[in-house]
Amino acid sequence: MKYSVIPAAGLATRFLPASKCIPKELFPVLDKPVIQYIVEESVEAGATNVVFVSGSGKEAILDHFDRINPKFSAKNLKEDVREKVETLDDMIEVISVRQKSPQGLGHAVMKGTFVVPNGESFAVMLPDMLIFSEGGRSVMQEMCSISEKYGCSVIALMEVPAETRGMYGIAEGKTLENGVIDIKKLIEKPTAGETESNLAILGRYIFTPRIAEILRTVKPGRGGEIQLTDAMVSLLAEERILGYVIDSKTHVFDTGNMEGFALANAYAALCRVPDFDKKIAELIK
Ligand code: G1P
Repeated sequence: MKYSVIPAAGLATRFLPASKCIPKELFPVLDKPVIQYIVEESVEAGATNVVFVSGSGKEAILDHFDRINPKFSAKNLKEDVREKVETLDDMIEVISVRQKSPQGLGHAVMKGTFVVPNGESFAVMLPDMLIFSEGGRSVMQEMCSISEKYGCSVIALMEVPAETRGMYGIAEGKTLENGVIDIKKLIEKPTAGETESNLAILGRYIFTPRIAEILRTVKPGRGGEIQLTDAMVSLLAEERILGYVIDSKTHVFDTGNMEGFALANAYAALCRVPDFDKKIAELIK
């Protein structure tokens, strides 16, 4: 799997005024923009061709992965800092696709598939969902192994409280092996009583090429938008889709809302800023 599609066209009205001129994907979690964490996760899993699907006002995302800014020319930076800003840029191929108007996640992914070579599996990574795995392998790396082993699509799932089911796509299935389920049913943002499952789609997907063809035929669904989950329902009727259920050492933060964004920063600070736990404890007191 060499390609990942990253939908990044959302306007982030929830983050005004911060999002007025700066794309939300470039908001930093400590010293790194959210989108860079996602791109690093993509590269770790082998997907070095990164397809950004975005719209007007989002050009700075592409600039972020360029090397042309003279401010950061080699002679002005210490070696370790230069590595931080340049290494990733060397590893990836940045591909930009426009989504001219917001028509849903499925529509954005469909646009992205126009530049994925025919017949290739690819990843979809939602940049709002920031995932920190304590040591070891990333969620995308685990999903790649499962996809290679079983030769099918794999989506990441997390357990959520029943009362929040309506915020996510929900999967039902049977356990295949530890942490892996054979998906039998998918429902986008279910209403009360529609499902008993608490397994939510968390924004990491590996798809077989068939999804690209299906996406071109999907009709608008929930909210009048073209839903990726609806395309997955059609894919499930033809092919197996497995779910990788993340473990308790994997922390997911929805940086698309204030609470998740603040928690992501707090978690990163707890990991990287010396004595941050003590300082926060003092502040709480
Ligand atoms: C999208 C997907 C949904 C998934 C969610 C994860 O919804 O449609 O299936 O559970 O991302 O964040 P959105 O949050 O864009 O409404």
